[in-house]
Amino acid sequence: MSSIPTVKSNDQTAETNGQNVLAARVRELQKHYVLKSETVRALRGVSFDVPEGDYVAIMGASGSGKSTLLNLLGCLDRPTSGSFVLGGDDVATMTDDELSQIRASRIGFVFQSYNLIAQLTVVENIEVPLYYMGQLNAESRKRCKQLAAMVGLGDRLDHRPTQLSGGQQQRVAIARSLVNDPYFMLADEATGNLDSVTTDEILALFQMLNDQGRTIIMVTHEDEVSEHAKRMIRLKDGEIQIDKRIENRKTFPPEVIKKISMGTD
Ligand SMILES: Nc1ncnc2c1ncn2[C@@H]1O[C@H](COP(=O)(O)OP(=O)(O)O)[C@@H](O)[C@H]1O
Ligand SMILES: [Mg+2]
Repeated sequence: MSSIPTVKSNDQTAETNGQNVLAARVRELQKHYVLKSETVRALRGVSFDVPEGDYVAIMGASGSGKSTLLNLLGCLDRPTSGSFVLGGDDVATMTDDELSQIRASRIGFVFQSYNLIAQLTVVENIEVPLYYMGQLNAESRKRCKQLAAMVGLGDRLDHRPTQLSGGQQQRVAIARSLVNDPYFMLADEATGNLDSVTTDEILALFQMLNDQGRTIIMVTHEDEVSEHAKRMIRLKDGEIQIDKRIENRKTFPPEVIKKISMGTD
């Protein structure tokens, strides 16, 4: 495992043997929910690649299949059919144990509700995934502190979640999502609980991480959020309606990005 706050260098996101390195490869993914009276075809054959370093916004009306797709990408569930290749392995064929192992070790979840542990400090919350993997030691603790500093919480290491603003709590969650050097960050309405100023701060942080080579897949229903991504995938009735690069994506100027790691006050 590479050292944690060290971001992927550009040549790792570039071409290898003439082929893009893929963070995820999805082919003809279907997910059916079998109920007593009917079968809900939540995903009806979805295919796309996510190259390393991409920044994807998944959009679509309520019921279009966004959460279902996110659950599959996050290895929380297996597809009914089709394949999802992560780091050379097809998730569709994994056992429950293998799924939870890959979830804990290689996926960076960021939730709308932050999901921090109230009794733990900032740095302890960031350490949680390492604890579960039995990888908590002096060196990895140091990396967690560096991650906290990278998201602008270097002066808040011993604060508890209740002593932090919503935006600061989400920064903790983002730092936590990176401790395992994930294939990609998976953000589910990550700014859904935040006001517009704080939303911009989180989006600026995503931009910084993506500029450093992190792959980001986020679900959002807000155009103002998706406009910051590099690519938009729109689902409709369980199928991909649009998959396009975002022209003229919105970006934050360098001085805003520079401020991120300097604190949140
Ligand atoms: N666990 C489930 N059991 C049965 N149907 C489900 C389940 N989860 C989602 N669905 C159905 O699948 C479709 C897609 O849902 P979902 O992925 O949650 O969409 P979105 O997140 O875009 O709102 C909807 O029709 C929804 O009712
Ligand atoms: Mg949903």
